[in-house]
Amino acid sequence: MNHYIGSEEILRKKREYLIPCVYHFYNEPMQLVRGEMQYLYDNTGKQYLDCFAGVSVVNCGHCNPEITTVICEQVNTLQHTCAIYLTQNIVNLAEQLAQITPGKLQKTFFCSSGSEATEGAALLASLYTGSSEFISLRQGLHGRTKLGMSLTGLSMWRTDQTPVGGINFAPNAYCYRCPFDKRYPECDLACANEIETIIKTATSGKVAAMFAEPIQGNGGIITPPLNYFKRVKEILDAYGILLIVDEVQTGFGRTGKMFAIEHYGVEPDIMAMAKALGNGTPVGAFTARAEIADIYTRPGASTLGGNPVTSAACLATLKYITTNNLPARAEELGKLFKDGLLSLQQKHTIIGDVRGLGLMLGAELVHSDKIPAITEIDIIIEKMKDRGFLVGKNGPNRNVLAFQPPLVITANDINNLLTNLDDVLGSVKF
Ligand SMILES: Cc1ncc(COP(=O)(O)O)c(C=O)c1O
Repeated sequence: MNHYIGSEEILRKKREYLIPCVYHFYNEPMQLVRGEMQYLYDNTGKQYLDCFAGVSVVNCGHCNPEITTVICEQVNTLQHTCAIYLTQNIVNLAEQLAQITPGKLQKTFFCSSGSEATEGAALLASLYTGSSEFISLRQGLHGRTKLGMSLTGLSMWRTDQTPVGGINFAPNAYCYRCPFDKRYPECDLACANEIETIIKTATSGKVAAMFAEPIQGNGGIITPPLNYFKRVKEILDAYGILLIVDEVQTGFGRTGKMFAIEHYGVEPDIMAMAKALGNGTPVGAFTARAEIADIYTRPGASTLGGNPVTSAACLATLKYITTNNLPARAEELGKLFKDGLLSLQQKHTIIGDVRGLGLMLGAELVHSDKIPAITEIDIIIEKMKDRGFLVGKNGPNRNVLAFQPPLVITANDINNLLTNLDDVLGSVKF
């Protein structure tokens, strides 16, 4: 019989022993003790439909038996060696990533988190171009390291008081609140065109790379128009600047394709990955074209990067994603989900905008004049939790409901969530 210490005691220990930056959702948080595919369970046995997937991580579901069996076998056989010795899972995984990533992306470096992946991608771009200047997007998030935080365009996540210099921020493709007060498509992609002005006016002219999430997760599920990245890439190519695509949150089937950048018909020069690659096992990776990767010859070891257990988990995850065609499932169920949210928008004026692709959807909550509904969103996600639905929130004003469930969710689950969200939105006074 398990002994659960309960939420109160966890909160007490958290206050006493964790650095307070480790924050949590909810005024009355529950203790989660078990997961089974798209569901989580608390210490009282209550079931929750997980619609945030540990922030876009467990695409194949919690404790997916086809993955955990492989992990357990590997743990019981060979857990760790470090890449200084030869093992086979790491190279098999790198080979598979070369096969599934777009274009000529071929050679990979493995680490243990998304922050390390973006940091490593930036280092590689610097080595290749001989420049340490970068362009990043407003409202992007690229990690918790000093450079990752400096590349991040959300002040909430820029805690460092002496960020790295040489980074210029371009306006993001936030059509609902267009930074140029224009409308798509008449805007002629003013936000993308602005990148050229930035290169010409705010940089030395020799920039290593531009960082971009295809869909900004923490930024509020900001989904650029489908011709946006083609224009961006044209500009970058004209100035010899690499495109680093951060697929940490969007990758591995989430948006209806294996990688979200595939919606935009553009081949990145370097791609950063993490989260859903390991389905809950700590992993990070960046993959580059061979010509770029081959510049990185000085030793660059990561003690745990590509270890046999993590790599086995990733291989089993990729197998599950492909054999169950999760990208197609995300596309189909995403349509149902988005249509449902759009119907709710007709009924509830608090939903100002619905956006996203596949099962990466956002609903921005606003008052009249698009004033962010900051207090209401907390009431809504708390009430949804009490009804057994875990919904995320993000955006610079923290007023965007985020729906990023495990891709194994069912149509029935989605309809259930929409019915409950309808009720909850109707009950909130604003
Ligand atoms: C797009 C993106 N990049 C990088 C990171 C950093 O990843 P990690 O928390 O694994 O270090 C995150 C984390 O949420 C992310 O969403």
